[in-house]
Amino acid sequence: MNIKSWSRMAALGAICALAASPVLAQGTVKLGLVGEFSGPFAEYGQQIYGGMKAYMKLHGDTVAGKKIEVIQKDTTGPAPDVAKRLAQELISRDKVDMLVGFGLTPNAMAVAPVATETKTPMIIMNAATSSITTKSPYIVRVSMTLPQVATPMAIWAAKNGIKHVYTAISDYGPGLDAEAAFSKAFKAAGGEIVGSVHMPLKNPEFAPFIQRIKDAKPEAVFLFLPAGEQGVAFMKGFKERGLAEAGIKLIATGDITDESVLQTMGDPALGLVTSFHYSAAHDSPENRTFLKAYTEVNGTKLSPNFMAVAGYDGMAAIYAALQKTGGSTDGDKILAAMKGMKIDSPRGPISIDPETRDVIQTMYIREVKKVGGKLENVEFDKFPDQKDPGKM
Ligand code: PHB
Repeated sequence: MNIKSWSRMAALGAICALAASPVLAQGTVKLGLVGEFSGPFAEYGQQIYGGMKAYMKLHGDTVAGKKIEVIQKDTTGPAPDVAKRLAQELISRDKVDMLVGFGLTPNAMAVAPVATETKTPMIIMNAATSSITTKSPYIVRVSMTLPQVATPMAIWAAKNGIKHVYTAISDYGPGLDAEAAFSKAFKAAGGEIVGSVHMPLKNPEFAPFIQRIKDAKPEAVFLFLPAGEQGVAFMKGFKERGLAEAGIKLIATGDITDESVLQTMGDPALGLVTSFHYSAAHDSPENRTFLKAYTEVNGTKLSPNFMAVAGYDGMAAIYAALQKTGGSTDGDKILAAMKGMKIDSPRGPISIDPETRDVIQTMYIREVKKVGGKLENVEFDKFPDQKDPGKM
């Protein structure tokens, strides 16, 4: 090739590149991931993102002709002001088409008005206070609500002869929801709430609360704590202060025995009965596919839990919605596409309630058992097609 034809080729290349760039920009769907990636709740973001990556590994990074790009931002923990600023920057500077993630309720609450103002779909992959979805018509939640989880636990407890329960909860949205829903359903089934403690979300010191529960001598304690290290610390205190020996049973939402901490918790967790929408021990082809993909992408350092599943299902909802809209990211079109959507989740079949934009799903009652030398949440009873009782 002589110099002249070479430079003609180069010029042609430059024109092609220029012409291609707007096409490329149009051909991208940007997801702004707002999550907790550092501090005591750092696993929330990692689990959610890990689940999203597992979905992308199985289904590719292109949908309806558009490339999916994830831009990750760290709230550093429960930090509503940071979450709001990050969401605003993602929309105005990074031009994201959707906001996703949100492990903790205060962060999701702070971002809801931003989603409304900018008509940006906001896909919640954990934050589980019932009222969150009422804070913006652009929110869809693919995780759970605490009333949805706590109500079956109350019904199961009453049915199994437990009459007097003390409630112990983390003192913020999901804890207050869990306490209200448990108490309502338990009283309706003939039970009595004999006392309650509210424990701080940040740096809780459990010993005095556990002692107070022991002194009250209830038949059982119903517990909600945000998933992670707090559950391990509570279980340790429960064991050390001899509550089980004093005849006090423990029942909880499955946040306590989530797979990321279950082995660390060890044998004191054996026999613990919880209600929840996901167990890694759930026996289905969809769950096996999910677990395999999760480990292939993320390694074995994190054991996938319910937040990872919500990240995975959130991506399934986004892919299916984009297919329906032909790749359009228009907020109203995406919302319309997600309402009523059905997904074969690793947790079992789920659908998005078109009225509340929350998940309708099966709630399982599980017991911690040792299976093949490892602790597992073994499902033994279920409540199918549960809507969020917090909105009924
Ligand atoms: C929440 O902040 O909404 C939240 C956090 C952790 C959980 C459940 C709910 O395990």
